Amino acid sequence: MYRGRPFFWGLHMTDDLAALAATTEAEIAAATDPRALDAVRVAALGKSGAVTALLKGLGALAPDARRERGAALNVLKTRIEAALDARRLVLDEAALNARLAAERQDMSLPAPPIATGAIHPINRTIEELTAIFGAMGFAVVEGPDIEGDWYNFAALNIPDHHPARQDQDTFYMPGSGPDGRPMVLRTQTSPLQIRTMIAQEPPIRIIAPGRTYRADHDATHSPMFHQVEGLVIDRDITLGHLKGCLTDFLRAFFGIADLPVRFRSSYFPFTEPSMEVDIGWNRKSGELGAGGDWLEILGSGMVHPRVLANCGLDPREWQGFAFGMGIERITMLKHGIPDLRPFFEGDVRWLKHYGSNPLSPANLHEGV
Ligand code: DAH
Repeated sequence: MYRGRPFFWGLHMTDDLAALAATTEAEIAAATDPRALDAVRVAALGKSGAVTALLKGLGALAPDARRERGAALNVLKTRIEAALDARRLVLDEAALNARLAAERQDMSLPAPPIATGAIHPINRTIEELTAIFGAMGFAVVEGPDIEGDWYNFAALNIPDHHPARQDQDTFYMPGSGPDGRPMVLRTQTSPLQIRTMIAQEPPIRIIAPGRTYRADHDATHSPMFHQVEGLVIDRDITLGHLKGCLTDFLRAFFGIADLPVRFRSSYFPFTEPSMEVDIGWNRKSGELGAGGDWLEILGSGMVHPRVLANCGLDPREWQGFAFGMGIERITMLKHGIPDLRPFFEGDVRWLKHYGSNPLSPANLHEGV
């Protein structure tokens, strides 16, 4: 704010101060970057600066002279500070302009494409069923894809010349395993039942999702596909537990609270009794639910006493149920995917269409 005083005091600026003001101002004008400007500030106003030295000399003057000289020095100091501030503004602006020029962006250019991956429907199904069974207290186990004949067949009550071996078009590996028996690409996840019962004390509650292999290739069969095995072993496990567990799972997985579920008597060598499980659907529309038709979806049963005994468990003490289901099949049904083959062709258009976005909140384990 103008109060007349600086002007008044300016009149008192003596020649030496005017000269100092002029040289300092010239140096300020000549400073081309903030460091040079700061050096000028320090030389004038710093601890041992020229103006500071003059201010320190005031003490030696008589009071009148001191007042007059002091006022003049203040004018000088203010003038230099103002010049420094003004120059700093100019330099800052120049620096900003230089940066803006250097970092110039052409906003009219198209943005680079963002490549987002997608979760494969098989992995999505495995995640979902793991979450559902996980909530029921099941743990996940894994085992080798190349499996001993004993684990894949014999221990599961499928003896050497049992017709089930032919059903399953087995890939045999060259040579034999440590027990002298053949090694195979596992035709089912059921050997995980054997491995788990041998390795763990009951009670047991596991699922085993994984790859399985059969020499079969057409629109509905792939030589490599996925199954999930389930096994519950405890005292006093009944068919009621099996039915309740699988009914709850199927309703949660397909997201249909009243999905009809039917247990139909069947045969598997490793369960007795055995049951195939059907869900309700409408054959014409393909819609799941109470559509009047039945669709077979998985195999299950009470673990055969001979299988328990093969794993060293006393069938009079321990009972349990097991189930196995095809992961491609339940994935195709849930998402209306018509053909099995593209699951393993790696076509990005298919993956984009049927894959799910890992970052979408809808995909963070819903429906449990
Ligand atoms: N392993 C059978 C298959 O591949 C599926 C299966 C049926 C598994 C019944 C089970 C079961 O555990 O109890 O066709």
